[in-house]
Amino acid sequence: MANVIGVGVIGAGNIAEMNHLPGYQKQPDVKILAVADVNGDRAKAVAAKFGSPHSYSNYEELLANPEVQAVSVCTPNFQHAPVSIAALNAGKHVLCEKPPALSADEGRRVVAAAEANRRTYMICQNHRFRPEVALLKRYVEAGEFGELYYAKASMLRRRGSPGGWFAQKKLSGGGALIDIGVHALDYTRWILGNPRPRQVLGVTRQKIGSYQLEEHRSYTPADMRGQARPAGWAGDADELAFAVIRMEPDITLMLEVSWALNIEKDSTSTEIFGTKAGAKLEPLTIYSEEMGRLVDKTPRVQPIPYAETHARAIRHFIDCVQEGKQPLSDGAQAVVTLQILDAIYASSQSGQLVEIP
Ligand SMILES: NC(=O)c1ccc[n+]([C@@H]2O[C@H](COP(=O)([O-])OP(=O)(O)OC[C@H]3O[C@@H](n4cnc5c(N)ncnc54)[C@H](O)[C@@H]3O)[C@@H](O)[C@H]2O)c1
Repeated sequence: MANVIGVGVIGAGNIAEMNHLPGYQKQPDVKILAVADVNGDRAKAVAAKFGSPHSYSNYEELLANPEVQAVSVCTPNFQHAPVSIAALNAGKHVLCEKPPALSADEGRRVVAAAEANRRTYMICQNHRFRPEVALLKRYVEAGEFGELYYAKASMLRRRGSPGGWFAQKKLSGGGALIDIGVHALDYTRWILGNPRPRQVLGVTRQKIGSYQLEEHRSYTPADMRGQARPAGWAGDADELAFAVIRMEPDITLMLEVSWALNIEKDSTSTEIFGTKAGAKLEPLTIYSEEMGRLVDKTPRVQPIPYAETHARAIRHFIDCVQEGKQPLSDGAQAVVTLQILDAIYASSQSGQLVEIP
């Protein structure tokens, strides 16, 4: 067996408890050594649940533990870059939750720290590990679609504003766009071969604002657990974003995301269109023309539970740490995603088309 890697998790909220720690626990060559959270009781309870011998209320203490070789950063967004930089400077490999930073400039500083310290830096863009996403990318690479020139990506919720820190721009970096838009943007561009963005016209809005439903089904950040109105608070976050993103050589991506929109039901979809064929992802179907006939192909691919996408991302992270490989979702690609997010927010504010150099 390869070297056993000692792992620490910083931020012991939902994603750490539901996805990262169970993902690490599945790996035979990982030892969970430490959990840190500003809420020391939560750190302790989560550490106990996953058999971690150490818990800390200050992540710097976790970083000072020499047995910890790699960390997951699962804090609120505004901490991602500073905690990642501190971890890399302490010689740890980093798997950071999305978004990697609040801006492209901040993202570049993390990439510089990873390079200076020669450590693995991976962004947890777990949708790339969905089998249907990876399969569609393989069809693209095999030339199935001819020239790809148009794509649509959307993630829409009818009522799904998480509230808490997610709804405060200062802490989250925005709102629905930086929270779920970052996923749709990342995996759709990855399927397309990461085309270079050139021009962006974007709109972000908060129109519905806070709401209260009798039955609340949306995501609840750890600090809001057990409160009477855990979510549905809009704060100063954007709840809706859409954008037209022109990329090289000539591919236009339409992005549409929302935490709250008056639609029938929540939906997630990606579609790509080329000269020879098009496809939709949910469920994976390819539309082409063969023998003078219109043909719809439905490759058999079994979607996996969401937590399993994290487990697979974590397996890949550990492989990269052990073998010194470049991660599938690396810092350079993350900076481009952040440039697009920056441009959408800037375009929304100015009402102008924004060029990306
Ligand atoms: N990939 C995905 O699908 C996915 C899904 C949900 C959340 N996320 C991301 O995961 C991150 C965490 O989200 P969450 O839903 O778990 O939030 P959460 O609010 O449930 O948990 C965050 C935890 O971080 C702790 N924390 C805050 N500052 C800290 C610090 N300086 N040091 C240590 N701990 C600190 C909080 O006390 C809290 O326990 C976010 O960036 C979010 O975007 C990703």
